[in-house]
Amino acid sequence: MAFPDPSRDQAQRRIETLRTEIAEHNQRYYQDAAPTITDQEYDALYRELADLETAHPEFLTPDSPTQRVGGVPLEEFTQIRHRVPMLSLDNTYSEEEVAEFYRRVQKALPGRDVPVVVEPKIDGVAVSLFYENGLLQYAATRGDGVQGDDITQNARTIRTIPPKLRGNAPEKLEVRGEVFMPRSGFDKFNAARAAAGEPLFANPRNATAGSLKQLDPAMVAKRPLAFIAHSFGLLEAGHAELHSQSEMFKLLTACGLKISERLWQENTAEGIIKAIHELDAVRHGFEYETDGAVVKVDDFAYRARLGLTSKSPRWAMAYKYQAERAETRLLDIQIQIGRTGVLTPVAILEPVSVSGTTVARATLHNGEEIARKDVRIGDTVAIEKRGEIIPAVILVRTELRKGDEQPFQMPTECPSCGGPVVQDPDGVALRCQNIACPAQVRRRLQHFASRGAMDIEGLGEAMVEQLVTHGLVSAIPGIYDLKLEGLVALERMGEKSASNLIEGIEASKRQPLWKLLFGLGILHVGATGARTLAAHFKTIDGIIAAPLEEIRRVSDIGPVVGLSVFEFFENPANRENLERLRTAGLNFGERDPVAASNSAASALAGKRWVITGTLSQGREEITEQILEKGGKVSGSLSNKTDYLLAGAEAGSKLEKAKTLGVKVVNETEFRRMLSGENDDTSYALEGQAIDAEEKSGAQEELVLE
Ligand code: IVH
Repeated sequence: MAFPDPSRDQAQRRIETLRTEIAEHNQRYYQDAAPTITDQEYDALYRELADLETAHPEFLTPDSPTQRVGGVPLEEFTQIRHRVPMLSLDNTYSEEEVAEFYRRVQKALPGRDVPVVVEPKIDGVAVSLFYENGLLQYAATRGDGVQGDDITQNARTIRTIPPKLRGNAPEKLEVRGEVFMPRSGFDKFNAARAAAGEPLFANPRNATAGSLKQLDPAMVAKRPLAFIAHSFGLLEAGHAELHSQSEMFKLLTACGLKISERLWQENTAEGIIKAIHELDAVRHGFEYETDGAVVKVDDFAYRARLGLTSKSPRWAMAYKYQAERAETRLLDIQIQIGRTGVLTPVAILEPVSVSGTTVARATLHNGEEIARKDVRIGDTVAIEKRGEIIPAVILVRTELRKGDEQPFQMPTECPSCGGPVVQDPDGVALRCQNIACPAQVRRRLQHFASRGAMDIEGLGEAMVEQLVTHGLVSAIPGIYDLKLEGLVALERMGEKSASNLIEGIEASKRQPLWKLLFGLGILHVGATGARTLAAHFKTIDGIIAAPLEEIRRVSDIGPVVGLSVFEFFENPANRENLERLRTAGLNFGERDPVAASNSAASALAGKRWVITGTLSQGREEITEQILEKGGKVSGSLSNKTDYLLAGAEAGSKLEKAKTLGVKVVNETEFRRMLSGENDDTSYALEGQAIDAEEKSGAQEELVLE
């Protein structure tokens, strides 16, 4: 171009600013664990950058944060040969063997004082990242240790894998570490899958491995994955010669990589055992799961003298903690039916105590798993409970069989309605095909009325059970036909509870459109998908009128979810139900209370909030309430914060708010602002009751689906 183009220059400047900002936010989010903006704000910056780069491809560079989600789906993974093989570690469950290991190391070396590093053994998926002159060249799985899958595109979607190292990066560096799904991310991810009627992952490790195996990096980008570095393969440091693991950790951190938050340096066998105990006491608070401690000789010159065996280094050893496991008898296998018809086998156990709680049920996941483990009724089984995750049957003690154990077959007919069950084309899930199946109906009604969806007070599991058993409700619209007279005729139903339920049902008619969409239980549509659909189409009629291609093109919806949405609204039975809901007066989007309260009239609209201290409801619920009113929530205070919502024991944030001049609001004042009224009712008690109910509900959901 002969003349300078101001809009082009402007775009270039903005692109550079956005890249710097996004990199800083990544640092705050992952390295400092103190984000200063909400995920929505981050997404907006990200989208702006992506749009500018699409308009000006000449400014696109491989280290742009958008390139993390680059690429098209692969047919299959190609193989990459590791520059230095990825070895494994000798491991033991015995403290004595750890002490012996250290004595062996001491004997083989001249000095007696051999410093070692003790670090968490992360239960993730091992990955090797190769950087040249600070730029990520490729990422590979461990594979057979010599070569692994090229997962570069997937790795680029992980925010803690920097495309470019900071500072004085070595010329060539193979960083080894673990990719994992943080506990909170895993819980949310699985809850969203449950809500969308998709099969659950048994633990974060499986979810991580499953995610990294995806051939479409856009799918991986949606999964909350993270990376922690713990070792290296090839290292050509040039200027930055390294002598020890401790120096290595300093370098990795300076380069912008994340390492474990707790490390111990010891130089006696007793010290090592003590560190292993200390780690055991704190490891459940980490965001990643750990299954042991790794003890490594710190000094690289010592490592070289100790050498390797064919499989593992002589300078390191892993100590594994006993899993929280127990043995008990499998009394029965029952089939539970989810709201989308998925049949899940559940082990009914002789109650047994595992890490402080009594376990009487455990998931068996699916029929394939039962066959693989050869689980039979009457078997002695080992069950394991890790963290907050549902207990699972790990193995069968076949050597304890007496001969009268009964093999189990997944049913070919639905145990609830007798209808046919069919295997999902793309997985192992079996589904009951009858949408009028009473078990599915119960679960659909429960989901519809649940807090995250239409939030109908008084319509919990037991109530739904009664309504369906007595034939009062057989599909969602039936809820809105309920009459006081019909309800009071039910067992244990007083006039007061009946009229409360009717009131709750009435109030739900005003719920925003996305809650209705979520509540309908469309396969693959969780709360986030429902919000996206509502924001895009504005009304139910907008979705009904939309051709398949339009739904699929909605950002973040994609082909699979899009098809599911389209088919749901094409289905005549669903259309009939929707018409009944419209006639009942539900909000179909014409008068969305969210839109109304987002107006300047809402005291919360456009305001930035930070939440601290103990409140009567969970932080997520409160965040949700603020977002619904058009406010924003972030994790840390800055001079941009408008309000600090402070609960009991608010701590240092309260002090900081005062210093920054941020207005501090207590819960009562917050509720008043939220409702726009002056009615000061007792929220605390109400909130606690809901909290408890919701927790048990979430757990049930995980077991059931
Ligand atoms: S050091 C030569 N450190 O455990 C081996 N490994 O069982 C170098 N692992 O393949 C690995 N946490 O994937 C090391 N802090 C840690 C680890 C760790 C988890 C994994 C790693 C390795 C496996 C060995």
